[in-house]
Amino acid sequence: MPFVTRKSLLTLSILSGVALVAAAGFVWSGVYNIGADDTHTRPVYSALQALRERSIEVRANKLQRPADLSDPARIRQGAGNYNAMCTGCHLGPGMKDTELSKGLYPAPPNLSKETIDAGKAFWVIKHGIKASGMPAWGKSMEDEYIWNMAAFLQALPKLTPEQYQALVASSGGHSHGGGESEGHAHAEGGEDHHDEGDANAEGEEHDAMAGMPMDESKPHSHPPGTPPHDDAPKDMKAPSGEVHIHADGKKHVHDAPAPATAKPAAADPHAGMDMPETAPASDGHDHQH
Ligand code: HEC
Repeated sequence: MPFVTRKSLLTLSILSGVALVAAAGFVWSGVYNIGADDTHTRPVYSALQALRERSIEVRANKLQRPADLSDPARIRQGAGNYNAMCTGCHLGPGMKDTELSKGLYPAPPNLSKETIDAGKAFWVIKHGIKASGMPAWGKSMEDEYIWNMAAFLQALPKLTPEQYQALVASSGGHSHGGGESEGHAHAEGGEDHHDEGDANAEGEEHDAMAGMPMDESKPHSHPPGTPPHDDAPKDMKAPSGEVHIHADGKKHVHDAPAPATAKPAAADPHAGMDMPETAPASDGHDHQH
């Protein structure tokens, strides 16, 4: 039936032509409200949600998951990065809404209240989600660190605010193999205080701090949420073993220079610290003095 075929083809191309013109007219008219404070209609929302879910699922299923995602060292390392990089949008145990979590649309899920499958979490953290606020962290973060964060996300919804803070404090802070941004702004500079000796020579991930002159013995301000810490210069303290924790969670003790009055090195540099009840809104950077 060649006649029918030709006729229906003609109808089809006219119809798609009309649809294209209508779509272009809709776009050109500016009638669509692109504002993030205007929600999608239900069918559009469902369609976008299905698109996102399937896209993530199909890709996550192809991933080779590490076998040791429940390793406490992975979870601990992921905690520091989560606190520094994600809480502004995804919150944490006991945290209130932030300007970002309130203002974004689609809204970032509260990851302290829902568990996301580790494979999907890895894929989303690495690649981000288009036309949403979710960035592709893979541009600045190595895969192992992303897996650590996916491992941490499995534990996060079970943590109390206190457990969360303790885990973050023991995590080694924000480190992911280069590309970290420096969120710890000091109000004033001064002489170099961060003389952690051979810290950089040991391959520690303090690059972001390197060359930042500061003397924390002078009056200065920290951004809200900075954990309590001792700002006195080292030479005013009783000499004691300098303890710091590496990104992989290993503790490292430097020898005390003058052991005469030395106290025994504390096993945990955060022992006895009053950690804030609620997590800081954005700056969770935790640097070890
Ligand atoms: C600037 C805000 C913002 C930051 C910072 C951010 N995210 Fe997101 N994230 C979002 C938004 C918005 C979504 C939801 C996107 C959507 O629904 O399409 C999202 C989605 C996700 C999802 C998918 C949840 C699901 O239901 O499938 C995961 C997992 C996630 N983010 C993890 C992280 C982690 C881990 C970090 C820190 C490294 C992070 N995000 C940092 C905004 C952010």
